[in-house]
Amino acid sequence: MKNIGILTSGGDAPGMNPAIRAAVRTAIYLGYRIYGINDGFAGLIEGDIFEMSLSSVADIIHRGGTMLGTSRSDEFKTEEGLQKALEVIEKFKLDCIIVLGGDGSMMGANSLAKAGLRTYCIPCTIDNDMGYTEFTIGFFTAVETIVDATVKIRDTSSSHERASVIEVMGRKCGDLAVYAGVAAGAENIVVPEKEYELKPLVDKVIQGKNRGKRHHIILVTEDTVPPYELAEAIEKETGVVTRVTILGYIQRGGSPSINDRLMASLMGEQVIRLLAAGHESAAVGIKGNELFCLDIESAIAVPNELNNRLYETLKVISI
Ligand code: F6P
Repeated sequence: MKNIGILTSGGDAPGMNPAIRAAVRTAIYLGYRIYGINDGFAGLIEGDIFEMSLSSVADIIHRGGTMLGTSRSDEFKTEEGLQKALEVIEKFKLDCIIVLGGDGSMMGANSLAKAGLRTYCIPCTIDNDMGYTEFTIGFFTAVETIVDATVKIRDTSSSHERASVIEVMGRKCGDLAVYAGVAAGAENIVVPEKEYELKPLVDKVIQGKNRGKRHHIILVTEDTVPPYELAEAIEKETGVVTRVTILGYIQRGGSPSINDRLMASLMGEQVIRLLAAGHESAAVGIKGNELFCLDIESAIAVPNELNNRLYETLKVISI
């Protein structure tokens, strides 16, 4: 095996760049040629591929986004798209592909693996919704962004004696809301994994108000409860003026945190070590601070779970 392809796919995540850097540098260190594929699986289908060198990845360790660009490719999900991608892989004589992305991207990687190509995955998504790994690259940077924004919103909420509903990302996973909720001292969170009830949420705002609290922070995972309706209901039931902030794409940008840079550097190196050792297609993960790998099919099959421990802690310490 001589030639490695690398791509980033799906929603970008802070830490993709240091992971690319580590993979490229380790590959060259071990004597491989490594090729960047622009814009994810869409770029693979189009053959948008270039050879990378040590200096292609200089000055990116601290940068958000992905230097390779990314996409969500519908074409790649079709049999025709997959065939086109395989033709390009043959044309460029790529012996294996490294895919950095979330669960959708891992499905794409699995299609390549099933077609007989050695394929390796590095988990990158701010949502932390990949069940097989404790953490994904980008998650902690996004948590820090949410905490930073929440603390600022709390300042102005206190000044005006308001409640604030803050919508965060996460798709079907409440980890961003739970981790940021604990770290920012939110009073309430609404997450997809737990049943939503208005009454206890409102009661807590009233209790806080009666104790002289001047702010009430409610973090809500996207697609759980419509934030403006929730704000209206809180205002109606409590008499506390309630504002909404939708954090949106700010959560996906920014310089990767130290934790994400370290995890990305370790995983980027590890993936190359795996392929160099002749390991079959695999996904790299982390649990209890230790890296491990799993075959892609098994990794996809592990259901994602909310961090219940932290969720319960939040309930206690936010009374
Ligand atoms: O990257 C994951 C994620 O941020 C989700 O939390 C969110 O629902 C989604 O991506 C939005 O993605 P886009 O609008 O870029 O398709």
